[in-house]
Amino acid sequence: MKESILIIDFGSQVTKLIARRIRELGVFSQIIPFSDIKKKTFKEGFIKGIIFSGGPKSVDEPNSPKISKYIYELDIPILGICYGLQLITQQFGGTIIPSQDREFGKTNIALKKKSPLLENVFLKKKNQVWMSHSDKVFKVPNNFEQIASTENCEFAVIQNLKKKIFGVQFHPEVVHTIGGEKIINNFIKNICGCSRKWNMKYFKNQIIEEIKKKVGQDKVICGLSGGVDSTVTAVLINSVIGKKLICVFVDTGLMREGESAQIETLFKKHFQIKLEIIKASKIFYKKLQGVSNPEKKRKIIGNQFIKIFEKFASQQRNVKFLAQGTLYPDVIESLSKIGKTSVTIKSHHNVGGLPKKMKLKLLEPLKELFKDEVRMLGKELNIPESFTERHPFPGPGLAIRLLGCVDKKNIKILRKADAIFINLIKEEGLYDKIWQAFCVLLPVKTVGVMGDNRTYEKICVLRAVTSVDGMTAEAFKFEDDFLKRCSNEIINRVPGINRVCYDFTSKPPGTVEFE
Ligand code: XMP
Repeated sequence: MKESILIIDFGSQVTKLIARRIRELGVFSQIIPFSDIKKKTFKEGFIKGIIFSGGPKSVDEPNSPKISKYIYELDIPILGICYGLQLITQQFGGTIIPSQDREFGKTNIALKKKSPLLENVFLKKKNQVWMSHSDKVFKVPNNFEQIASTENCEFAVIQNLKKKIFGVQFHPEVVHTIGGEKIINNFIKNICGCSRKWNMKYFKNQIIEEIKKKVGQDKVICGLSGGVDSTVTAVLINSVIGKKLICVFVDTGLMREGESAQIETLFKKHFQIKLEIIKASKIFYKKLQGVSNPEKKRKIIGNQFIKIFEKFASQQRNVKFLAQGTLYPDVIESLSKIGKTSVTIKSHHNVGGLPKKMKLKLLEPLKELFKDEVRMLGKELNIPESFTERHPFPGPGLAIRLLGCVDKKNIKILRKADAIFINLIKEEGLYDKIWQAFCVLLPVKTVGVMGDNRTYEKICVLRAVTSVDGMTAEAFKFEDDFLKRCSNEIINRVPGINRVCYDFTSKPPGTVEFE
């Protein structure tokens, strides 16, 4: 039976983590911004529980996010986290006050009364939880009772058992809350009665049925980028409609070493999927000639890509759908009306999301999954790990790693250096510990000496970062000897480079890519 937990987002930085924890526990969960909640959201009847997320506002502030009170009459259990707890308190007639001693980070909590939410949790006198708030409950509403408290927060957990409404001031979804996962499990299993059967196999079967129903006898076109998302999308759709799927790979000439060949082998030989390879490097290099501005480079590549893709699509008959590897974080980000920045740092270019003008209907089978879930689905579909575990690669490819103007000769130099760096990382067993690693070629020359000769060549920068989602990143800490080895190998084997540097910049203030 289809069942899910609905997470109503009030703007917390960690809302996505709630969805992650619930899915890890075997229940499907969805995040919807508070402003998009409608009565019809609950109509289909498979929402077994509701979680109110935290949020940056104070409930007493004008224009702070609210929710219609009919939600409390649906007879669906509710768990409010931080702002969620405060909103419940306010809407049931309790009071919230600013806390004099604000609590951010780890703090200790003590149980005051038994609760099904806290079964087998907080068994010690002092138990660690993670707080992030500046308001607290001052007066509990009628019919609610205190369950646990911290030194600065008397009502850190409250409940109305009859209505199955619970509130916690701390964040159970954050790993620093010891027993946080148990609390979420108690809520979804014991209180909401979820059967916890959701897993990747279940999802795969469910999504296959949905694709069958949606596509029927029509044809689907899918742009491949060589990345995990478009690969999994294509293999999944192929498993449902076979030859009615047309995959297109535009070879821009800006790919990593061996990329085009690998895609061809995987699709044509391994999966016997129909694949059109459009060799277009000439036109990309021509359009990029003399252009050094990063945004211009990105736009030229994006536009050229659409043109080629559109032309191809217009030549196909009976194509009704365009398949894209859109992921859940992309969906949430475009839905969320909270905390959106209006500054464009970079115009991200993807295969997906571009050809809006083509009048094709969208097919986005991964739009409910997180990146690592897509990798799990890839495994379910027997896609080799060499593909599913690959580091992310940006749409504009090597063009944004060759700083300044793009030309074939320097792309070749960069591609070779990059392959050496990545292979050394793999040999050292570090590839899976790093979120993304690559080389960048700087448009300046430095003096060196090789043998008895003076050299005057380019600088290669090594970049390797750890990250959860690419939003923030830290430079990976290599051993000195490993970096020296990379430097030697690259300089010895790649004519055109005579100096190698390592980039220690985190994001922020840097970005992962240089352009
Ligand atoms: P930045 O450089 O913005 O990169 O810190 C964050 C992550 O996004 C990737 N990236 C892109 N991915 N199309 C993509 O599909 C793009 O245009 C693009 N630009 C950057 C980048 O590689 C990193 O993983």
